Amino acid sequence: MRYNFDQIVNRRNTYSLKWDGGELVKAIGYTERFDNETIPLFTADMDLPVPQPLLDALHKTVDHRIFGYSVFPDEYYESIQHWFKKRHDWTIKKEEIVFSPGTVHALHIAVRALTNQGDGVIIQRPVYPPFTAAIEGNGRIVRNNALKCDSDGYYTIDFEDFEAKAKEENTSMFILCNPHNPTGRIFTQEELKRLSDICAENNVLIVADEIHGDLIRKNQTFTPIVKVAKNTDHIITCTAINKTFNVAGLHCTNIIISNPEIRTTFSEEMGMQLPSPFTVAALIAVYNEGEEWLEQLTEYLDETMNYVKTFLAENLPTVKVRIPEGTYVMWLDFRGYGLSSKEVHDRIYKRANVALEDGEMFGEEGEGYQRICIPSPRPLIKEALERIAAEFQDIESKKLLNA
Ligand SMILES: Cc1ncc(COP(=O)(O)O)c(C=O)c1O
Repeated sequence: MRYNFDQIVNRRNTYSLKWDGGELVKAIGYTERFDNETIPLFTADMDLPVPQPLLDALHKTVDHRIFGYSVFPDEYYESIQHWFKKRHDWTIKKEEIVFSPGTVHALHIAVRALTNQGDGVIIQRPVYPPFTAAIEGNGRIVRNNALKCDSDGYYTIDFEDFEAKAKEENTSMFILCNPHNPTGRIFTQEELKRLSDICAENNVLIVADEIHGDLIRKNQTFTPIVKVAKNTDHIITCTAINKTFNVAGLHCTNIIISNPEIRTTFSEEMGMQLPSPFTVAALIAVYNEGEEWLEQLTEYLDETMNYVKTFLAENLPTVKVRIPEGTYVMWLDFRGYGLSSKEVHDRIYKRANVALEDGEMFGEEGEGYQRICIPSPRPLIKEALERIAAEFQDIESKKLLNA
């Protein structure tokens, strides 16, 4: 069937963090203004309808009328195996799959179970902020292998620094984000192989957060790190249906751990986790019947990315942006205005009343940047960009006059 992603679905009064979570969002410090006119494009969650087979499966679960404790049927595991074999040529054994009600939850569990207090954990900033919270919140130390950014906004890995950090005493884990949020990089097979080799040589466990792995541009390919690693004993991988199929509220992440000892330690820290019947039904539906929808979604996201890039070039040429290789976030570089971060923030969040994410939330490397999530109907993105553009026209016009 053909999906109409341009259609705006009203999400207010649906317990949505993005649309109804104003008080929480203000308390966390994302923004000080959040009202009925706010366009929220901060959290990575789509304002787009989900695949029809998923809706059918959930309706069937509702119609059953009883929602008791549930278990994982064989079909659950087979659906995961089928998806990763088909999409990524990755053969996963049933026993390697460990359920978690969330990816961030799994990161906390991994840090607690597989490192010691005071250990160093490598991350690559600017990066998804909960990585830092999982490390520091559990009494471990961040070892930041900051990504290098060239003049075209393309991010690469500083391998010399990575190796030095891996060799540092007590460095015991590396949390990889691939595709990388917020820079949008998909690391190449060569980069991944090098990361894996360095970690293996230095006894550093890799936790690969690959939950954006199915959200990539049409001309790109994504390789799970386990596919290029010499052996996978030192790798655990987070996979999830939440980002790909817009079901973050159903809490379904699957951690793939081939090393039995690591799996046992991780699982013991996690404790027994039973699924909700909605979670099981959802995963089986999307991994077996969600591909047609995902193809259409990919096209839509690609078009929206092109739209954003063109809009900025025409209306806010000072703001620099690259089309990301993966993810549905765009990393906007506002540094060309020479304004303080606070001034940029005030113009966007207070005056335009659009809620994005300030770049410094991702680490000091993000200062002067804003992250925008674009998986919303394009008319909404258009309105948000127009509002933002209006607030920077004074500077853009002056620049034009002086040119
Ligand atoms: C890289 C990355 N990991 C994890 C998450 C959150 O996943 P979960 O909702 O499963 O905790 C996000 C959400 O944006 C993310 O971008």
